[in-house]
Amino acid sequence: MKRIITYGTFDMLHYGHINLLKRAREMGDYLVVALSTDEFNWHSKQKKTYFSFEKRKQLLEAIRYVDLVIPEESWEQKISDINKYDIDTFVMGDDWNGQFDFISNQTDAKVVYLARTPEISTTRIKKDLNKKKLVTENS
Ligand code: CTP
Repeated sequence: MKRIITYGTFDMLHYGHINLLKRAREMGDYLVVALSTDEFNWHSKQKKTYFSFEKRKQLLEAIRYVDLVIPEESWEQKISDINKYDIDTFVMGDDWNGQFDFISNQTDAKVVYLARTPEISTTRIKKDLNKKKLVTENS
């Protein structure tokens, strides 16, 4: 069985996330998603999510491409996760291009960066909704 892992926040789940998860799952038979906890997002990524960890986890678990969701609590856990879950391929969107190449030297896993889906992100959804709110308030 070929096992894949990916990491992320997946807040306000959108079709860019789904595309990534679908393509990651198609690379193997079992997809593990390491989902950033609220604390990790806040302390390490300076991000406050709209949905809590439990809600983001529930959404991911409902997706047919996702087999297991585990918490991402630190930048350093990747090597131990890959060994623990016997991972063959580590996948990230290409906004992270090159940043995790060290994993292929430290484990048996292959590192793959997938092209991001254009013109969609959680940040963009938040910005667009804020703009619409301003227009509504001023009309
Ligand atoms: N992703 C993608 N295409 C997009 C948005 C995200 O392939 N349009 C991928 C990212 O590259 C990453 C995973 O989905 O591998 C989770 O990304 P995340 O940072 O949680 O999503 P974003 O929408 O980019 O969130 P933000 O705007 O807060 O950075």
